[in-house]
Formats: sequence, C-alpha cells, structure tokens
Amino acid sequence: MSVPDQVLSNYDLEKRGDTSDEWIRTRTGIQERRIAGESTTTSTLGTQAALNALRDAGISPQAVDVIVCATTSGDYVWPSTACLIQQGIGASHICAFDVAAACSGFVYALDLGAQYIESGRAETVLVVGADTLTKQLNWEDRSTCVLFGDGAAAVMLRPCNPDEGLLATSLGADGGGAELIWVPAGGTKTPISQCVLDKKLNTIQMRGPEVYKFAVKVMGEVAIDALSRCGLTGADVDLLVPHQANIRIIQSAAERMGLCPDRVFVNVERYGNTSAASVPIALSEAVEAGRIQRGDIVVLVGFGAGLTWGANVIRWNRDESGHTKAESTTKDLE
Ligand code: UT7
Repeated sequence: MSVPDQVLSNYDLEKRGDTSDEWIRTRTGIQERRIAGESTTTSTLGTQAALNALRDAGISPQAVDVIVCATTSGDYVWPSTACLIQQGIGASHICAFDVAAACSGFVYALDLGAQYIESGRAETVLVVGADTLTKQLNWEDRSTCVLFGDGAAAVMLRPCNPDEGLLATSLGADGGGAELIWVPAGGTKTPISQCVLDKKLNTIQMRGPEVYKFAVKVMGEVAIDALSRCGLTGADVDLLVPHQANIRIIQSAAERMGLCPDRVFVNVERYGNTSAASVPIALSEAVEAGRIQRGDIVVLVGFGAGLTWGANVIRWNRDESGHTKAESTTKDLE
C-alpha cells in the first residue's frame, strides 16, 4: 500500500468550522485521513503501491502480463492511470487499462484480473486500487468533505490450485442510482465552464442518507451471495475486509452475515473512505497485522457510485509467516 504522509484530523476540520470531531466520529467512525499534496497523484500512489507489491511478492516488473487499475480519479481524463503505472514501474509494453467502478472498483478489478489467469491468457497480473478523491471535494460541503481520504494498494495475482485463491465473485450495478453519488461535470456531457466552476459541479455530490440505506442493504447481501456461489456461508468466514466508508455500514453488514467484530477488519478511523483503494489498503494492513493465515476464507466487499457493489471470496494461499520482503524490484521510487 501507499498513502500520502500528510494527515488531516477531525480536529483540523473542526478548526475550519461547521463540523466537529464528535459528529464525524460518531456518524462515520473516521478520526483522520491522508491528503495527497499537489505533486502526489493517483498514479504516483498507485505506482508506489505496485512497486511495494512487486517487492513483497519477489516478482520483477518485466514478469507482469497485465495491469488493471481501479480508479475514478485518474491523473488525466485520459490516458488511463494503468498506463502511467506501467511506465512508472518499468514494466514491459503489456496490456494496461483502468476499471471505473468507484469504491467497488477493486472488487471488480480483482475478478477481472483473476479471469485472465483462469483463462490461461496471463501468468502474472497486477491489480491496483488507487484514488485521490480529496482533489475532487468541495471543502465547503461538510456532508462530503469529512468522509474521504487518498491512497493506493496493489496485489499480484498468479496461478494456483482451483480450490485456493479467488473462489467466487458476485458483482452488481444499478445506473438508476447514478445521481446519488457522482461528479456531475467535467465529462463530455457537461464540460468544465465558468458556470460549472461557480456551482462547483466538478466536485463530489452525494445524497448521503440514500447511499447509506443502499449500502446497508447491499453489503451483507452481496457478500452472502458470493459465499453461496462457492458453497460457503458467513460461518466459514475467517476475515471480512469491507469497504471502509462508515463504521456503522460495516457493522450492519457484519451483523447481516452473523460475524462477530473480531472477524471484521476495520481501519476507517485512520484513512476515511479512500474509494477504490479502501479494500486493498485494508487487506494490506490485515496481512501486515497477521490477521490472515494460509487457508483462511477472506471476503472482500464493496459498494459505491454507479451504483455498484461486489464481493470476492478468497481462500488465502500464501504463507504469510514465511514471506520475505528481501527481494527487491529493479526500480524504486524516491
Ligand atoms: O463509498 C460510498 C461513499 N458514500 C458513503 O458511504 C456515504 C453513506 N452515507 C453516510 O455514511 C451517512 O449518510 C453520512 C455520514 C454521510 C451522514 O450521516 P447521517 O446520519 O445520514 O446524517 P444526515 O446526512 O442525515 O445529516 C444529519 C445532520 C444534518 O443536520 P440537520 O438537518 O439534522 O440539522 C446535517 O446537516 O447532520 C448534519 N451534518 C453535519 N454536521 C456536522 C452533515 N454533515 C455534517 C458534518 N458535521 N460534517
């Protein structure tokens, strides 16, 4: 994973007025978040996360066959952030593209990456989740500006036994909810204009309570559906790694799945909602904290703009106790 150094706490936001640590903490569980400075972008965070993943896996950038980057806050309207990451890590001129499914992006991208391997089209796939949504915030809108943070994380996928690795995925989308959480302008329908800038339509707009209701319903449901696709239930889950948007949404999903809190990974208090990076950052920290062992059933679950939602069921097949970070990539960022 890779997150910016700059920490913005609830108390910092409180000083700007119109909100309080108490409100943010009790309604969302967030205490602080990381903020990308001017020179830090989605691709620089994604590239650093990718280099860390390559180093951790002991894989050379030249061995990567496909790069999939989940993001909705790319450096440019186009080209894709995945292409910038390809250049940044010094990979060969392989296939690289973005997946835009907002906060569900990593869950979507992981499924896509795994399909390259299952079909035999690729041996080594790099899947990145990266977003810098704080650059798309209206800092005068207290209903959104307290929620988001920046970051990236990445995984390396390789072939494994059929009863290990990614066992099942369930994905969904409902464009009828496109306007519940969106950036209305800056695309081809409503290009940037003075009027757009004056009305701040190039920033994130959200109908929070409606997204909340959708999230509470869909998180548990999609996780249970993914589990049922591989003959499992909530009782089989060793660790749930949910999208870190709001502690109350996470708790209700866990409840729906019949999971006690010690089987749910939470880090929303330190990063806020990092969109497509949220699930892989949580996964990275769960591995680092020794919360995942070889053979464990791990469920990743997300929801977000689109509307989109999805869950992956994984039987973890890496021996974390034995893993070494000694192998280095051919290139490291400053
Ligand atoms: O990846 C998907 C991203 N989106 C989400 O996950 C969002 C899902 N939604 C939520 O998490 C919650 O709806 C929020 C945390 C955004 C809001 O919590 P809520 O309990 O639904 O609050 P609310 O929007 O109903 O607002 C309650 C009150 C309002 O005041 P009044 O009208 O009751 O006087 C808001 O104006 O809280 C006020 N409020 C705030 N007060 C202090 C809204 N934002 C703030 C704030 N600080 N930052």
